[in-house]
Amino acid sequence: NQLADAHVGMDELLVSPLWLDRHASLPLPPELYGPVPARRNSSGVDLAVEAMRAPLLAAHAATTVAAVPEFDAQGAEAAVGAAAAAWRSWNRTPVARRAAVLRHAADALQAELPRFCALLVKEAFKTWGDAVAEVREAVDFLRYYADEAERLMQPVALPGPTGESNELRLTGRGPWVCISPWNFPLAIFLGQVAAALATGNTVLAKPAEQTPAVALEAVRLLHAAGVPAEALQLLHGPGETVGAALVAAPGVAGVVFTGSTQVAKIIHRALAAKDGPIVPLIAETGGINAMLVDSSALPEQVVDAVVQSAFRSAGQRCSALRLLLLHEGIADPVIEMIRGAARELTAGDPALLATDVGPVIDREAFDNIRRHLRRLDSEATRLVAPADAPPGIDNLISPHAYEVPAIDRVSDEIFGPVLQVVRWSGEPQAVIEAVNRLGFGLTLGIQTRIDSRALALAARAHVGNVYVNRNIIGAVVGVQPFGGEGLSGTGPKAGGPHYLLRFCAEQTLTINT
Ligand code: NAD
Ligand code: ALA
Repeated sequence: NQLADAHVGMDELLVSPLWLDRHASLPLPPELYGPVPARRNSSGVDLAVEAMRAPLLAAHAATTVAAVPEFDAQGAEAAVGAAAAAWRSWNRTPVARRAAVLRHAADALQAELPRFCALLVKEAFKTWGDAVAEVREAVDFLRYYADEAERLMQPVALPGPTGESNELRLTGRGPWVCISPWNFPLAIFLGQVAAALATGNTVLAKPAEQTPAVALEAVRLLHAAGVPAEALQLLHGPGETVGAALVAAPGVAGVVFTGSTQVAKIIHRALAAKDGPIVPLIAETGGINAMLVDSSALPEQVVDAVVQSAFRSAGQRCSALRLLLLHEGIADPVIEMIRGAARELTAGDPALLATDVGPVIDREAFDNIRRHLRRLDSEATRLVAPADAPPGIDNLISPHAYEVPAIDRVSDEIFGPVLQVVRWSGEPQAVIEAVNRLGFGLTLGIQTRIDSRALALAARAHVGNVYVNRNIIGAVVGVQPFGGEGLSGTGPKAGGPHYLLRFCAEQTLTINT
């Protein structure tokens, strides 16, 4: 466990590019505590957020947010061994007690919302609106999985014709490896960890390299709430070494992964190649998410949904809109309105309340998106031209939109504020079939005033989350279970009633009475 050697705190919070410098610790220049522009941004940020901003700073390139030690991948086997030893006692802890610990952590996180928001803005370049939403989602995950574990983990008596006493019991499985991405460094990180802990498993948490400080603070919060240190270990480092070593270590009882499809497949193969028991994998991955708009749709509603879904969070959501499918009868005016709406978005410093679109996470992501933009500039028709970027903000990409000739020309998930538009005519069912053929299956938007059409298209689509006449992001824990199929993931859905079952072993106890 590396917590003792790590440090981060708002009083010593250091500004950073992307990956931590393990040794540097530069003080925050006082001039970064500037006045706050009193404007509501288009994400609807409550101006009460203003009050939280005092200890905050502009996101600034070239300095450091946190210093954490990198885990030595050679220690993976020992770390899993320690988690296995801790498992017996944590699994025997009554579920009510485990749930109480998670609720305690939820209360503490809610109380610390401003500090966690500040950290999300600073380390992950979240806008304030996105940061507040993420902390609230993380609180929801903690409370929801606490409630769900208590609901599910009661022994169920199954009386029947055998004349015996039959009982079905759920328990934890052992040590789980939780591997999370940088784009929801708090909510997804805590969601995975809380699900595993609530069900009586111990955890080896491997956060994304880009966002170690958020993970560190989240783990400290859980430990302070009562999770034993041995039941939750935090192991920082690159996925290719530390993540891979944890997955490969003997004794791992399960892996929950959120990230790219490519890495999910690497982990799937690594688990299949292991000796010993079959290890379950929960993988939640990316998508080429579409929104189908027919000629009955309300243009204003469409444009609002498109702007929120494609450009909010700088397009760095797995749920984000990538492919807008406009009926030819409505395409021209809608495109014109999207152009106008995109021009109104402010791309810039995420620490400023007026900012709608902050920088992408790092130089590698920036270069990758720029490569796609160069390709699209030569292959497609540009609909939304890039706005002038304010100086001094690294890795900023303003919203872009292109018209492409056909759905099958879109093959990659471009993880940034880049929308591709295809016109269609004929039967909408055929359009949905073309989307299905892309192989992903995460989110889908349908914009129509014909109710029967919405239901028929939803039934035909191979996707996990369908949204009708609204945006396609921001699933709410407990009421909009989230997750995809095909290239987008294995299920079960995070924040849904079946999620915790996959973390459990089931035992039927039959007693001849
Ligand atoms: P990524 O796959 O590059 O990394 C995710 C995590 O996997 C990181 O912690 C990384 O260190 C680790 N990792 C990398 N290689 C590994 C290996 N060989 N073995 C074990 N672990 C390894 O993804 P990312 O760039 O951090 O996140 C963006 C991707 O995540 C996008 O594709 C996005 O759509 C997806 N995503 C999906 C969901 C969902 O719920 N479906 C949510 C958020 C993000
Ligand atoms: N759960 C997140 C959303 O729905 C990724 O946007």
